[in-house]
Amino acid sequence: MGQLIEVSNVSHRYDRHLVLEDVSFSIDEGAFVGLVGPNGSGKTTIIKLLLGLEKLQKGSIEAFDKPIQKFANKGHISFVSQKANSFNRGFPATAKEVVGMGLTSKIGYFKPSQKKLEYLIFEALDLVNMMEYANTNIGDLSGGQQQRVFIARAIVNKPSLLILDEPTVGVDTENVENFYKLLSDLNKQLGISLILVSHDIGSITTHVTDLLCLNKTIHYHGNPSDFESMTDEQRSQLYGHDMHTITHDH
Ligand SMILES: Nc1ncnc2c1ncn2[C@@H]1O[C@H](COP(=O)(O)OP(=O)(O)OP(=O)(O)O)[C@@H](O)[C@H]1O
Ligand SMILES: [Mg+2]
Repeated sequence: MGQLIEVSNVSHRYDRHLVLEDVSFSIDEGAFVGLVGPNGSGKTTIIKLLLGLEKLQKGSIEAFDKPIQKFANKGHISFVSQKANSFNRGFPATAKEVVGMGLTSKIGYFKPSQKKLEYLIFEALDLVNMMEYANTNIGDLSGGQQQRVFIARAIVNKPSLLILDEPTVGVDTENVENFYKLLSDLNKQLGISLILVSHDIGSITTHVTDLLCLNKTIHYHGNPSDFESMTDEQRSQLYGHDMHTITHDH
């Protein structure tokens, strides 16, 4: 397996506030990375840098051995945001249409037939088990169902990397488990690499292949089971934050 992402010595500040300091890590193709850290630890900032939404100030980021700037917004890296599941009731689009919005980047460049586009949309809806809701208005779906539609929209272009920033905010515990299961399936069956941002270490360690703990600097990068077998004190030190408040007992 090759290397997908290489982040080297990245530091970032907003005005004079240093939020990332000398951050380096790499992600292999096919990995399912859990990016965790307390509120304000720089998780969304590193994601924005990966997506080219925030200008790189110091260090470098490469995807497939090329500067990330060449990949941003070209369908290789797709994104589901923290606020994805906040569609208003009555928003005039069906699940099928919302997924179709993910295809626009390919239209105009090389226009596939309507039939081919429909096929891609249904394929994506099927992958997230939302086929039966294809013609339902997005606002009439539950938060968890909407979230699945947003995943479908994000994968309809068949990206190499899917980044999800706290996608389970507002989703209940049982559905969160199903949601992680869905992500695992996309990772294993389609080979899409994933970065899942969360500040809830407890519920993601059983699903991810790599755990990355960020709190301005990288405090841990490795195997989730090694992390789990540490004592609370060791973990608190690595994490730079009191673990008791966020670790769930299974
Ligand atoms: N556009 C901005 N301008 C100024 N400060 C910002 C900006 N975006 C983020 N910050 C600050 O940078 C720090 C890191 O923010 P970031 O959003 O990366 O954290 P996070 O780890 O994603 O937090 P959360 O878990 O709450 O989503 C915070 O202190 C935040 O207030
Ligand atoms: Mg954030």
